[in-house]
Amino acid sequence: MLNHCKRIGLEVQLHDTAGHPVITAFRCHHPSRPTLLIYGHYDVQPAEPEEDWNALPFQPTVRDGFIYARGASDDKGQFFTYLKALEVVLAARGDLPINVKLLVEGEEEIGSPHLGAFLNKHREQLKADAIAISDGSQFSDTVPAITYGLRGLAYLELSVQGPRTDLHSGSFGGIALNPIHALVNLLDRLKNPDGTIAIPGFYDAVAPLEPWEREAMKALPFDEDKLKAYLGLPSLCVEPGYNALESKTARPTLDVNGIWGGFSGEGAKTVIPAKAGAKVSMRLEPHQKPQEIAELFTRYVKDLCPKEVRLEVKALHGAEPVLMSRDLPQVQAAARAIETGFGVAPVFIREGGSIPIVNLFKELLGLKAILLMGLGRPDDGAHAPNERFALRDFKNGIRSVAALLFEMETCCVR
Ligand code: BES
Ligand code: MN
Ligand code: MN
Repeated sequence: MLNHCKRIGLEVQLHDTAGHPVITAFRCHHPSRPTLLIYGHYDVQPAEPEEDWNALPFQPTVRDGFIYARGASDDKGQFFTYLKALEVVLAARGDLPINVKLLVEGEEEIGSPHLGAFLNKHREQLKADAIAISDGSQFSDTVPAITYGLRGLAYLELSVQGPRTDLHSGSFGGIALNPIHALVNLLDRLKNPDGTIAIPGFYDAVAPLEPWEREAMKALPFDEDKLKAYLGLPSLCVEPGYNALESKTARPTLDVNGIWGGFSGEGAKTVIPAKAGAKVSMRLEPHQKPQEIAELFTRYVKDLCPKEVRLEVKALHGAEPVLMSRDLPQVQAAARAIETGFGVAPVFIREGGSIPIVNLFKELLGLKAILLMGLGRPDDGAHAPNERFALRDFKNGIRSVAALLFEMETCCVR
C-alpha cells in the first residue's frame, strides 16, 4: 500500500499505533482549494471456512467478470478504486484538481480500537471539507447508492460456569443445573415471541421512522422475492409494524452469533458440561448508545441468571451508529460523481452494517460531509467464502472517484 501510494505521487507515512499501523498518503498542493479525506481499511475478516472457497482466498482470481478474494469487496477492492482514480488523473493531467488525504487503517473489523486516539492526535493534519468512504454496497447490482445512515453495534460474550468439572449425567443428573440449559434459557428470554427485544429499556432511545423516510424507502426498487431466493429462505421474519427493508437497515436487532458447550462430537456421551457460552450482538438504531445498550443487556442477563450457575458477561467491541446530513453541496457532488461513473443516478439508502470510526470523523474532525459511496453489491459475499467484487463496479467506481475529484473542486468554495 505504502509503495503503491508513493509510486503514484502521494506523500506517504506509516504510523505505529498500539495495534496495527495506520497509513496516511497526502497530496496537498493547492492551499486555496478544497480537501477530500478518504478513509478505507486494509484489514479483513478471517477467510475461514477455507474449504468452502473455490480458489485460494488470498490469491485473487478473476472469473466471469468478478475478482474473487478475501477483501475483494470489503474493503481492499473498493479502496483500490481511489488509488487507481488518483493514478489515472495524475497520469492524464500531471496534477489533481483538489487536495487529497488518504487514511487507511488495519483494525476496522475489530472496532477500530486505536484509530480514535490517532484521529485525536492528528486532527489538525486531517482537516478536510468532506470525507469519502467506499466500504459498503450499492442498493442492487443495477442501482448505485449513497448511504446516509449506518447502524451501530454492541457485541458481548456470555459464559456460564456450572459444576467444577464435566459430570456423569447418570450419577449427578437431577441435582446439578446444566449450564447449557441455563444459557439457552437466558438467550431465549432476550427476545419476545414476536421477535422484538425483551431487554428492559432497549427501545427507549429509538426514534420512530419519520413518514417522509418510510415513503422514500417504499419508493426504492426493493425486490423481496429476489432477496429471499438469494438467502435461500422461504419467508423473512421482520419486526412487527415494519417492512423488510426497514427491519434490515433502520431498526435495531439482536442476534446470537455463536454458541458452544458440552459434547457435540460423533456418537453419544452422557455428560453434564461444566460450562457453556455464547456470543451475542445487537445492531443499533442511530440514537442508541452502544455502551448504554451493553449495560442494559448485562444487567438484564445477570438478574435473570439462576443462582446455581455463575454467569460472566464480557463486552467485546462496539460501533457508534450514525446518520449523515444529506442536504450538503458535497453530497450532491458525490451523487453527480456516482451518476457520471455508473451512468445511473444513485438512490439514498441506510445500511444495516457498521463502520465504527465514522461517528468520530463527525465528532473529532468536525466533518459534516460524510460521503458513503458503497461500490460493492449486496451479494458480493463480504465476510463469507468466495467474496468477490465485480470488475464493472471496479471500473465504474474508478470513474466515479475521478469525477468526484472534479466535482469537489467547485462544490465547496471557501
Ligand atoms: N464494510 C463493513 C460495514 C458495512 C457493511 C457497511 C455493509 C455497509 C454495509 C465493515 O467492514 C464491517 O464489516 N463492519 C463490522 C463492524 C464491526 C466488526 C465493529 C460490522 O458491521 O459487523
Ligand atoms: Mn468494510
Ligand atoms: Mn467488514
